[in-house]
This record gives sequence, structure tokens and C-alpha cells, in this order.
Amino acid sequence: MNFRLVPMDKSHLQAIADIERACFSAPWSASMLEEELYNDTASYIVAEGEDGTVLGYAGLRAVLDEGYIDNVAVAKAFRRLGVADALISAFCRFGRAKLAFLTLEVRASNEGAIALYIKHGFTEAGRRKAYYQNPVEDAILMTLEFPREGSEDPE
Ligand SMILES: CC(C)(COP(=O)(O)OP(=O)(O)OC[C@H]1O[C@@H](n2cnc3c(N)ncnc32)[C@H](O)[C@@H]1OP(=O)(O)O)[C@@H](O)C(=O)NCCC(=O)NCCS
Repeated sequence: MNFRLVPMDKSHLQAIADIERACFSAPWSASMLEEELYNDTASYIVAEGEDGTVLGYAGLRAVLDEGYIDNVAVAKAFRRLGVADALISAFCRFGRAKLAFLTLEVRASNEGAIALYIKHGFTEAGRRKAYYQNPVEDAILMTLEFPREGSEDPE
């Protein structure tokens, strides 16, 4: 399946909000997503099909050298085609160049997403009890660290 990764712009907002509603119990609205366009710490990338269809998207907040992945989702019809792989790979490349770590929360039952993050080197760093509502569920905190060159102990 051919797709390209592009920065999120206004033309994507409604399609992303639709995917949010289909995927999450506390979805981000188009206007919440629009605010992220003006947030200097936020970077959203969109996977677009050849005809411009929004297949999936992911959002990263970078504060100093800390990266927080806020949203990742792929429309149901386009899953298991490598779209999320491409989105997370892009954030990992950015992280390797610019960040000390990437971190995110995921529902404890979300086996597909957990497998995705493990594939990219994330490991479980903790658990937030009853973090999610509708239904109430723990969050697994997952982190990927990027050791700086020369940061190893010289011994
Ligand atoms: C999780 C999600 C983003 C994966 O998107 P995707 O484009 O289908 O994923 P990919 O095709 O790129 O798969 C990449 C890897 O993720 C893992 N994976 C993805 N979906 C999986 C599933 N249903 N079961 C098991 N592993 C899965 C696999 O390791 C896969 O690698 P592989 O194909 O080599 O086995 C997608 O299912 C989704 O949008 N879910 C609803 C929203 C969501 O849960 N977002 C995450 C919130 S933290």
C-alpha cells in the first residue's frame, strides 16, 4: 500500500477527529487538534494515501529533550499494512537525533499497540492504576531511551 507521511494541516483535521471518535473513549475533537497546529512543542504527522485519504496519524510533544507520544491511530480499513510502523519509525528517528527518550501511555488490554511499541524498542516503565475511563483500566507506561554518544561510563 502506497502512502506518504506529511505534517498535519487544517485539511486533515476532520478526518483525524473521525478516526479519534472511532478509536478512543475520550477522543480529541477537530478544534482540540487544530490547537496543536499552533503549539510549538507539538508535531503531528499524517499518513496519506495516494488520493489524499487520511490513513492514520501520530502526535508527539517534545519538551526540552523529552518526547511524549500523545496520539497514534490508524483507520480500521487500513490496519496491518505498516502505517503505524512508519509513523512510529519517524518519531524514533527524530528521537534518536534530538531526544533523551520517548514515552507514552497505553491501555493495558491494547495488545496490538503494545506489540507495536515493543517492536520499536519500547519497554514497560510502570503502570498508572485506573488511568483510563469508559471502561476504567490501567495504563502501561512505555519508554524508549536514546543514550547520548559519550554518555557511557568511561570505565
Ligand atoms: C495500534 C494501531 C495504531 C496499529 O496500527 P497498524 O497500522 O495496523 O500497525 P502496523 O500494520 O504498522 O503494525 C506494526 C506492528 O504493530 C503490531 N501490531 C499492530 N496491530 C496488531 C494487532 N492487532 N495484534 C498484534 N500486533 C499488532 C505488530 O507488531 C506489527 O508488526 P508486524 O506487522 O511486523 O507484526 C491500530 O491498531 C489502531 O489504530 N488501533 C486503535 C487506536 C489505538 O489503539 N492506538 C494506540 C493508542 S496507545
